[in-house]
Amino acid sequence: MSELKQSRPKGTQDFVPPESERRRRVEETFRRMAETYGYREIITPTFEHAAVFEKSSGVTSDIVTKENYTFKDRGDRDLTLRAEGTPGVVRAVLENQLRLPCRLYYVGPCFRYGRPQKGRFREFGQVGIEALGEASPLTDAEIIFFGYAFFESLGIRDCTTQVNTIGCRECRPTHRDALRKYLLERNELLCADCKLRIDRNPLRVFDCKVEACRQAVKDAPTPRQYLCPACQTHFEQVLVDLTRRGLRYEMNDRLVRGLDYYSRTVFEYISPSLGAQDSLGGGGRYDYLIEEFGGPPTPGVGVAIGLERTMLVAPAAPAPARRHLAFVVWLTEAEIGAAEQLADRLRSDGIAAQVDYDARKIKGQFKSADAAQAACCIIIGPDELARGVYSLKDLATGTQREVPSAAVCAEVRALFQH
Ligand code: HAM
Repeated sequence: MSELKQSRPKGTQDFVPPESERRRRVEETFRRMAETYGYREIITPTFEHAAVFEKSSGVTSDIVTKENYTFKDRGDRDLTLRAEGTPGVVRAVLENQLRLPCRLYYVGPCFRYGRPQKGRFREFGQVGIEALGEASPLTDAEIIFFGYAFFESLGIRDCTTQVNTIGCRECRPTHRDALRKYLLERNELLCADCKLRIDRNPLRVFDCKVEACRQAVKDAPTPRQYLCPACQTHFEQVLVDLTRRGLRYEMNDRLVRGLDYYSRTVFEYISPSLGAQDSLGGGGRYDYLIEEFGGPPTPGVGVAIGLERTMLVAPAAPAPARRHLAFVVWLTEAEIGAAEQLADRLRSDGIAAQVDYDARKIKGQFKSADAAQAACCIIIGPDELARGVYSLKDLATGTQREVPSAAVCAEVRALFQH
């Protein structure tokens, strides 16, 4: 028999209470907010045909070349665990022939085989929105604003919004040529990866973390210097609208994003408290992606946010010492049935309730109540049953008093409030 491994795989995390509950609250905040902007939930598979990611994230992206979890299934198919939400959403929109324009949001795990470090995991949660079929720069600005507002609603203050544009099919080739020429002249300064990037996708060199490469691209031609008039106008309108919305942003000419599908607007939310992996979320416009999937020419723009990184920087609300949970305690076996019924009554009324069926003694049941961090115990003994009352014990203060059976739900609710 193989030995059970007692540790989780590298780069994965357990979320145990109360962190699991905090994570759920972050997700719920996101869902509520996405819905208030008109987005509806889409749920796509956790794995896709490998080609879905190759076609979209791009064969020159680090994600596809180095980080994808790609494997053959037992039917010899090449499959990839979801590395990001966007490609699956686009695939699903086309496959299900959704009517456009449509606004979709998602919440789910993603997998990337990176070197684990603070804020970088091999399994992580992403929440994101995609607006498909919307071409207006006002949608770009609204989405950028959405992300910022989400962080703000979680109490995150030290978040900078960086924006850039990388142009379109019209203007990108001219920039690419200029950049290629510039990089070829500095070929010997670049790392081995970047030397290859000059030919495949020179824009990627802007993403390289190697210090020599960063220095080499300091004065490199930027996409913004080569924009066609349409891209120029589009970007100006995005910026005007961000200002109108009162959102402070930073221009980052070197922001190109690590995925191949972007066109025009790109943006990222940066938090200095994250360290090296400082991007809380990011996104941009991808006006050619749907076409590349075989669909009709359709614009698209979206953002995705990392749950773990968000939780790392979001201030934790002070955890209440006790949970809104009532523990029903029985004195003798004769009251077990009544305890069970009372617990069900509380639950029907929306109050969390629990009974310890195992502990034979009241002391053991109180111990369980304490371990569960219940706010109160409701004690049922033969005497209470006969008189139609319960003893309600506040576990925070230790005080105990009798309450009439008919009023127990209201009394427990009132107790939860202080
Ligand atoms: P991304 O920048 O690759 O964009 O990922 C978005 C966010 O996911 C990151 O900012 C980060 O918070 C989180 N994230 C990424 N990798 C990891 C990791 N290894 N560990 C923890 N968190 C991570 C996208 O995925 C695009 N699909 C965004 C988008 C949506 N563009 C248009 N629509």
